[in-house]
Amino acid sequence: MTTPSTKKRVLSGMRPTGKLHLGNYVGALENWVRMQEQYDCFFVIVDWHALTTDYADPSHLKENLVDVLLDWLAAGLDPAKCVMFIQSHVPMHAELHLLLSMITPLGWLERVPTYKEQKENIKEKDLGTYGFLGYPVLQSADILIYKADVVPVGEDQVAHVELTREIARRFNGFYAGSLNDKERQHVFPEPAALLTPAPRLPGTDGRKMSKSYGNAVLLTDPEPVVRQKLKTMVTDPRRIKRTDPGDPDVCPVGDLHKIFSSKETMAKVYEGCRSAGIGCIECKSWAADALVKILNPMQERRKKYEDNPRLAWDILEAGSARAREIAGATMDEVRSSMGLDYRSNSGPTKGSTK
Ligand code: TRP
Ligand code: SF4
Repeated sequence: MTTPSTKKRVLSGMRPTGKLHLGNYVGALENWVRMQEQYDCFFVIVDWHALTTDYADPSHLKENLVDVLLDWLAAGLDPAKCVMFIQSHVPMHAELHLLLSMITPLGWLERVPTYKEQKENIKEKDLGTYGFLGYPVLQSADILIYKADVVPVGEDQVAHVELTREIARRFNGFYAGSLNDKERQHVFPEPAALLTPAPRLPGTDGRKMSKSYGNAVLLTDPEPVVRQKLKTMVTDPRRIKRTDPGDPDVCPVGDLHKIFSSKETMAKVYEGCRSAGIGCIECKSWAADALVKILNPMQERRKKYEDNPRLAWDILEAGSARAREIAGATMDEVRSSMGLDYRSNSGPTKGSTK
């Protein structure tokens, strides 16, 4: 057993985009659930980040936020083992974002790959805003305000963590000098990205599982829906007739088996598919079995909170209060290292005492 103080701190976040799917589970959540056993974990629902793209219609934020939280709890995040909170309930993130924005060169932000890609690809929204350009600065604030050591993320977020390190370095370089001796040489440790080792999870159409493709199996999908979705899933395109042999290595259903099925089932799939001994319908029903086996306990856990939403909100509120304590302490350090702690420097003035 390690004591809390020796545990490394982890921070990660998700935008409140509504109900999560199996791709979110294997790509992030499953890993978070494991990490909460070993690390001092903070998981944040970043509602302000959602606004950087969905500013024109924030009406679904609350509902989406609750959906994400329920999925987190369903997947096994445990409020006794990790801190779950809402970004906007910890306003210190906004103050740090502002201060970091002062020292972040525009060129650093314009070079971020996600910025360029999304601006080009998302045509239905105007992403030429100050807030969207500053997205990674806000993310840096999320991470640095907890002095996180480790940030578990997917591939697409590694550049953001790299930028966070550069901003931390720049901050430390500018302001560490004004710290007095007993304080650390730097305010912010440089966080490390921990790439989540995620297998590529295909959706029902064989493309990467994604909400926007409409090919996802949701963590909340009841068994009949899971089975129905699997029935429509694409298979090895060369296996046209039941008597044609196929190859699980070029079949999206085969990919599902590799991720979720037992070794025994895998063996039956390889043997049966390549010899045309099994049909795709049977093979898909085995894949559905494996998914249902994972989803069932999640849906069971989810019920408790669905029946009593107050419980879920209490978790978020307690988490946000805990987050504010830590974020508040960091901001005191930040202000003092920048010389912004005018009040404590000058003591009470005559006019302020009665
Ligand atoms: N940008 C992240 C994403 O889209 C979400 C996020 C916001 C985040 N703040 C974070 C992730 C801090 C890790 C750490 O997935
Ligand atoms: Fe794919 Fe299974 Fe059909 Fe083979 S038997 S093509 S692995 S669905």
